[in-house]
Amino acid sequence: MTFRARHLLGVEPLAPAEITSLLDLAETYAALNRRTVKHGDALQGLTQINLFFENSTRTQSSFELAGKRLGADVMNMPVAQSSVKKGETLIDTALTLNAMQPDLLVVRHPHSGAVNLLASKVNCAVLNAGDGRHEHPTQALLDALTIRRAKGRLHRLTVAICGDIAHSRVARSNLILLGKMEARVRLVGPATLMPKGAADWGCEVYEDMREGLRDADVVMMLRLQKERMDGGFIPSEREYFHRWGLDAEKLALAKPDAIVMHPGPMNRGVEIDGTIADDINRSVIQDQVEMGVAVRMAAMDLLARNLRAERGARAAEGGAYV
Ligand code: CP
Repeated sequence: MTFRARHLLGVEPLAPAEITSLLDLAETYAALNRRTVKHGDALQGLTQINLFFENSTRTQSSFELAGKRLGADVMNMPVAQSSVKKGETLIDTALTLNAMQPDLLVVRHPHSGAVNLLASKVNCAVLNAGDGRHEHPTQALLDALTIRRAKGRLHRLTVAICGDIAHSRVARSNLILLGKMEARVRLVGPATLMPKGAADWGCEVYEDMREGLRDADVVMMLRLQKERMDGGFIPSEREYFHRWGLDAEKLALAKPDAIVMHPGPMNRGVEIDGTIADDINRSVIQDQVEMGVAVRMAAMDLLARNLRAERGARAAEGGAYV
């Protein structure tokens, strides 16, 4: 198995072979998750702590299910009721939890780079569950698995990522991962929501939604990240939907078998028409959720193997872990 990482902080450091290894393992977990009895033992005896400083439905619940299905002892840290509310810092919180000897720490934080900083302070494996606008690696991996299952491959597919690119860690992680896997990425959205310099990132940039969707294999819609906006980026939601919202008329410009994706949570009638989101012939949004559990099982399994190998080597040298 080719997967060398100590932490999963982003897709940026992953080699294409590591991504393929993880997706292949996730396929086996996707099959396990379709069985009535879903238990594996890859994380047996390990402790997983989920530490979410931002709201989450999909990511937190799927990390919790993933850990439990693989036999870990899983603790969800209730941040809203924690001493963070009394002013305890991120690092002090992390060091406190680290002293309880977890093996896997899953962290979501509103600030870009916060999870990388935390990983440098603890001695367990850290998984980034989304940090600011920076990265959301397991989202990009579950998106890649969903695309690969629907299309049979990733390379030479045209993927249009549409909407609020500027504030989206999902867009950034997908752009990096899909580029590594030789897909052609288009970024589509209003100039106000397009990061400066996007045209230099090895992708095509479109302001016109209709041009951006033409002959695309995959249409990935993004939510307006209002919580990260500090000003007026769109004239109105009504106008935004008219120009950049996905409806049947705009989708008709993509390939006839193009799939529709959305990482969630969705704002129906803002970035996507509800009937498109619910169309089981086009939308793979529920498949993305399903693959989220499988990918997170695979990611934690691989990191746990590396952690065990590292600790085994340290124990052989007379170190702390046995
Ligand atoms: N896609 C995603 O990260 O969703 P949640 O915010 O619900 O975890």
